[in-house]
Amino acid sequence: MGPGRPKGRVGLRRRLSRRVFLRSGIAAGAALYLPACADDRAPGEGRADAGGAAPPASRAGSNGDFTVALPIPPVLAPVRSHDTTDYYAVEIREGTTQLRPGAATRIWGYDGIWPGPTIRAQRGRAVEITYTNRIPERVSVHLHGANSTAESDGHPADYFEPGESKTYRYANDMPAAPLWYHDHAVDLTGKHVAMGLAGMYLLTDDVEQGLALPSGDHHVPLVLQDRVLDADNQLVYAVDREVVEKGFLGDVYCVNGAIVPRFDVATVKYRFTILNGSNARTYRLELSNGATMTVIGSDGGLLPEPVDLQRLEMAPAERFDVVVDFAAYPVGTSIVLRDADWDTGSNVMRFDVTRSEVDTSTVPSVLRPMTRHDPATANVCRSFSLGRDSDDDWVINGLGFDAARVDARPELGGLEIWEFDNQSREMHPMHVHLVQFQVMDIDGAPPPPELAGWKDTVRVPSGDRVRVIARFEGHTGLYVFHCHILEHEDHHMMAQMEVVPAGAGDAGACSGDAGGGWTR
Ligand code: C2O
Ligand code: CU
Ligand code: CU
Repeated sequence: MGPGRPKGRVGLRRRLSRRVFLRSGIAAGAALYLPACADDRAPGEGRADAGGAAPPASRAGSNGDFTVALPIPPVLAPVRSHDTTDYYAVEIREGTTQLRPGAATRIWGYDGIWPGPTIRAQRGRAVEITYTNRIPERVSVHLHGANSTAESDGHPADYFEPGESKTYRYANDMPAAPLWYHDHAVDLTGKHVAMGLAGMYLLTDDVEQGLALPSGDHHVPLVLQDRVLDADNQLVYAVDREVVEKGFLGDVYCVNGAIVPRFDVATVKYRFTILNGSNARTYRLELSNGATMTVIGSDGGLLPEPVDLQRLEMAPAERFDVVVDFAAYPVGTSIVLRDADWDTGSNVMRFDVTRSEVDTSTVPSVLRPMTRHDPATANVCRSFSLGRDSDDDWVINGLGFDAARVDARPELGGLEIWEFDNQSREMHPMHVHLVQFQVMDIDGAPPPPELAGWKDTVRVPSGDRVRVIARFEGHTGLYVFHCHILEHEDHHMMAQMEVVPAGAGDAGACSGDAGGGWTR
């Protein structure tokens, strides 16, 4: 810990960290945070002033919104390819990036870059990735949104240590979807993602490729993340009581690892695959000229039909595929993408119309048909209350994460309705591994159309009940579900499900009454 960091914070962090270690029976006594002396801090350990009374003034001075061109993360090249599989090798290591004038910023990244390289996958063609851990802390890599085997899901307790490697195999046997990969090490997920360990994994298929949507240079991933920088341009990630409560909120907005960048566009349609890769921030995106954003996809891929919006709300881990048409704007026009709720500096990035082009892309009125699950045929209904315990720990049905406890046993192939009942004062974006679900209702009302497609993460507002319905297909084994505000997750708002063979799961049918009769 850097000198001058208030002892109370360290104490809280240590205490909470030890609790999960004891609960989950993992290597009690292992050092979670390496000692960092003044000259040899790990990235994110921050400087002496980082934990002081005044927050680091990241935005003070010459941040210069729109001075940097939007970086596009490179597409990862396979080390070899085979009839059915592409093989990749990725190092998890420290790297540097020039975030603003002055010192380079040290990050932890997949292949040393932030965000990590984009992985492009094709439905039906497998991907195998060997990750080697070259940072001084344990890691686990999760492919968020994928129907992965338990062995390759990056369960938080299935981590690997510094110097070790682990190979993950993904069958990609699911429809096109904007997946993403990120660290998921128990207790350390928030810190590791804040340090840069996240990237896009774009899975495509024939349906998507047959649609003539904007593609090539006109299909652009946007990874939205907020950060805190100290006076020496180093990332700061400090967790105190307030951060446990609200999650880590940065005061600089970054897109693809650049502070409030600009992007040159032509007078045509662009497809932006947007990931909210922030630890805790929810964005309410809008264009400064009030232009329409056409949502064509969500977490689990294409919507049944496009949805035109002026404002798009995105919680952590949510993805939306959005088409913006720049045809109506003369060359020279600039349009700012901003976050409607952040009054201290709401710019996210800017689009500069710099050239004319003929548009060959289309957004068809029918994208991908979707069969709705019939709630009347659900096998099991479960209800999960979201709250805090007397220790200010985040809990699900009164319990914090325990890797030794299984909280739900869905049957393979079973259709289940899960209710999240938020009894706390914070919103929780709830995420279930393995499945893509359909949102049934949000506080009794049907979801708006942009939330009515396939999703793996759903916002559960304070005081609300949200129900989702999912078929537990693909694989048996142990998986987690959790809040995707990473400081809530790291502070135990996570539970486990074990998908079991048919006949071996939790008993209990739904009552048929849409309002109650829940089975635990
Ligand atoms: Cu994106 Cu369990 O995570
Ligand atoms: Cu996930
Ligand atoms: Cu939460």
